Amino acid sequence: MEYLKMYENEIEAMDITMSPPANEPERQYYFIKKARGLVKEKERELKRPLTCHITTFGCQMNARDSEKLLGVLENIGYKNVDDETADIVIFNTCTVRENANQRVYGHLGQLKSVKKKHPGMLIGLCGCMMQEEDVVSTIQSKYKHVDIVFGTHNLYKLAEILCDAYLSNSMIIDIWKDTDKIVEDLPVERKYSFKSGVNIMFGCNNFCSYCIVPYVRGRERSREPKAIIREIERLVADGVIEIMLLGQNVNSYGKDLEDNISFAELLAEVEKIKGLKRIRFMTSHPKDLSDELIEVMKNSKKICKHFHLPLQTGSTRLLKEMNRRYDKERYLELAKKLKEAIPDIAITTDIIVGYPGETEEDFEETMDVVEMVRYDSAFTFVYSKRTGTPAASNPNQVPEDVVKERFDKLLKRVQTISREQALKKVGAVEEVLVEGMNEQDDSLVSGRMSNNSIVHFPGDADLCGKLVTVKLVECKGFYYMGEMLGSAE
Ligand code: 5AD
Ligand code: SF4
Repeated sequence: MEYLKMYENEIEAMDITMSPPANEPERQYYFIKKARGLVKEKERELKRPLTCHITTFGCQMNARDSEKLLGVLENIGYKNVDDETADIVIFNTCTVRENANQRVYGHLGQLKSVKKKHPGMLIGLCGCMMQEEDVVSTIQSKYKHVDIVFGTHNLYKLAEILCDAYLSNSMIIDIWKDTDKIVEDLPVERKYSFKSGVNIMFGCNNFCSYCIVPYVRGRERSREPKAIIREIERLVADGVIEIMLLGQNVNSYGKDLEDNISFAELLAEVEKIKGLKRIRFMTSHPKDLSDELIEVMKNSKKICKHFHLPLQTGSTRLLKEMNRRYDKERYLELAKKLKEAIPDIAITTDIIVGYPGETEEDFEETMDVVEMVRYDSAFTFVYSKRTGTPAASNPNQVPEDVVKERFDKLLKRVQTISREQALKKVGAVEEVLVEGMNEQDDSLVSGRMSNNSIVHFPGDADLCGKLVTVKLVECKGFYYMGEMLGSAE
């Protein structure tokens, strides 16, 4: 059954002449049906189909959330278009660093003139940034052209919020501080037919001192293993061969559930799903990376050979201040264990430069870990002060020029090491999942290796979504040019 149509019987069975049910997801089925009627009415008035567009900022979690939002919008009857002048435009926002917020305000400013020409347009804002009180008051006072504001905890309520917006003339603001609820079984529209993210848990309990995520995504809530397995089985039946298990901190999966289940045990269950070819996961916290998990990865035929292990800093002193609950030695030990168990694994990381109080010695500790681990790739960030986090009130903020100098030095080194790491694989034959046509050259397709590296090679659109074997002919720094040898299925 087509994924988007999966809940059609339940939606059709709703009687919208009655008051809405209190239970979820039935309540949303009711509002989806009601919104369909409102959209049809508008379409008759305008004599054209209504369009929608979602712009996603931030991480894989947000990308998955946007697929859920789009699933609801398309189910209601909107046609998805790639343009911010649609009848409904939603920004799914990120607030992990200040520049993410600035980008949202920039887009919002541009939409003001679009809406002047297109008065019936609805503008919606959701996601992490909306969980911050000062953001919502800025929107209320300076961005009055916004129609809907909702947060991370009630994303599933889009159909209901939309019905309210159609019947109201003022800005609808619906933000929850936290929730213990997980609402399942709503329509989803995937970006790729052959791969998908799957949420396994929501929220974060770690409270790293610089990070705003625990404040905007709430406490950790794991999904029931049965619900996860059922979702993956349905995805596989719908053509998905690669999944990415998503959570802010997947290594603590299951700790909040009554049935005692660890992340490693969940992975072992997912591995058994017939037809599923590849498993990825994101993000791991080093503090609870278990030997059991490494063992499951080592013995797995499906788990990809890639481990994203955020370092943040190599300085044990700063790690303590950051509340990361591991030290430099423990981190190095974990990286070593991973490499010993799975020799061709790619290790990638996140590093913050310029955390308050970072000295030259602290920074050198970070550079030292970079030398020892030799990351296949590293995301490097300049520390960004997030209001409400403990680090924001630290008086020892590092001067901008010092941070820039350290950042440039780190970036140069991680890029050189990445290139050296990538060069090692030239000549190898790799299994590749073809993800699409090359954006610059339509005689080429682009795909991803198990270790997450990208390779481009001659091929046509029929290969999309297929697993093939490719010889890596040339390394271009961060990606390869290759030559297809045959099917890997
Ligand atoms: N400043 C800079 N980087 C940050 N990250 C999280 N919070 C901040 C911040 N305040 C980075 C961390 C995390 C990644 C997702 O974003 O490195 O792992
Ligand atoms: Fe933020 Fe730390 Fe939670 Fe990651 S583990 S989301 S860095 S608080």
